[in-house]
Parts: sequence; C-alpha cells; structure tokens
Amino acid sequence: MKNILIAASILSANFAYLGKEIKDVLKAGVDIIHFDVMDNHYVPNLTIGPLVLKSLRDYGIKCIIDVHLMTKPVDDLIIKFAKLGADIITLHPESSYHLDKSISLIKNYGCKAGLALNPSTSLCYLDYLFDKLDIILIMSVNPGFEGQKFLNHIYDKIIKVKQIIKKKKILLEVDGGVNINNIKKIVIAGADILVMGSAIFKHSFSYYETIKNIKLKLNT
Ligand code: DX5
Ligand code: ZN
Repeated sequence: MKNILIAASILSANFAYLGKEIKDVLKAGVDIIHFDVMDNHYVPNLTIGPLVLKSLRDYGIKCIIDVHLMTKPVDDLIIKFAKLGADIITLHPESSYHLDKSISLIKNYGCKAGLALNPSTSLCYLDYLFDKLDIILIMSVNPGFEGQKFLNHIYDKIIKVKQIIKKKKILLEVDGGVNINNIKKIVIAGADILVMGSAIFKHSFSYYETIKNIKLKLNT
C-alpha cells in the first residue's frame, strides 16, 4: 500500500484551544494540518485568517500547514499566508480572475500550489496548469461546512483525475465527508492525501485511537 498522508481539518477543532488541539493530533500521528479559510462570500461561512496562522507558528507549530482558501478575491490572502509560513496554498478556480497568475504567485513565494475542484467544477481547469500544480484537491462536498456527507459520484471524478495525472508528480487530495468507512475506497480510487475534520475531532475515541484505527484500516 502506498504512503497515504492524513490531513486534519481544524474546522472541526475547538477554537478555544486550537494550538493544543493541533499539537494533540500531530502527536497522535496526523501528517498535515488543513487550515480552512472561509470568507462568507465565496462560501457561506466565516472562519479564520492570517492572524491565526501567525499565532500557531508563534506557538511552536512547525508541521506542514495546508491553507485551503475559500475566499474571493484571493490573491492578497495568498501573499499574506505565504509570508506567514504556509507550506501549501490551495485555491478554487472560481475565486481567481487570473488563475495562472494566482498559481504563479503561490509558487513565487516558495509554497506548493493546489487547485481545488468543487463537485460540479470541470476538469478542463487542469488543462494548462499541470506543470505548475503540486496538488489537485477534489472536493467531495460543496465547500463551506464540516460534517457533510461524501457525494458518491465523486469516486468517478477521483478515478478520472488520477488517470489524467498518471505519473506526473502531482498529489491527489480529497476533502469532505471522508471517514473511516470510506477511506479505503477513496484511496483505491487514487487519493494520496485524505482530509478529515469531523472524523478526527468529533470522534468519541481519543485522537490517538482514532488515528491508529484510520492507519490500521488503510493498511488492511
Ligand atoms: C469544507 C472544508 C473541509 C471540511 C472537512 O468546505 O473544506 O476541509 O472541514 O470536514 P469533514 O471532514 O467533517 O467533512
Ligand atoms: Zn478544506
């Protein structure tokens, strides 16, 4: 089985003690912290901004932070998050007026660039960007909220994208409604990175038990 990375989406964490939540899930074995930025404009929810990333870095969080931008406009925030130490910055094609320029902006600041495709977003956005992308994020729910149900038609989309990227060095990330019951199928379809919010933070088991069970499931 290939190495699958687990990204914990902090949208489901308790923001009253976010730094501790992150340290705890990292200790339990997650690989990446997925940082959902929502602006109540591109998506109908409002979350966290650059100040929170700065606080987390100042608090000693050194892990890979994957900033998922669900904002419109987006370019100013790319610069702010890149300067504060984001490792990966992912944006949606619908949120940028000049997608090639926004992706280049991410790369010029030394970050890895991701393109997020909503459930109804066409794969044609990928056509002229393959050389610049490090990650393709397939949304398996409509963006905006944690705890939604995985949309079953997205399995086919994951398979299609995997076929298109073939041996290119692009990782495939899946976000939304991912949980212990569907991870196996998502990975078989082609995912390399699994984003999980409620399945990690809202579980009745400890983070250690939860991550252990996820890894066990992936290795069986
Ligand atoms: C949805 C966000 C996701 C979300 C995942 O718009 O991009 O990252 O927090 O949460 P779960 O895993 O609960 O669907
Ligand atoms: Zn996300």
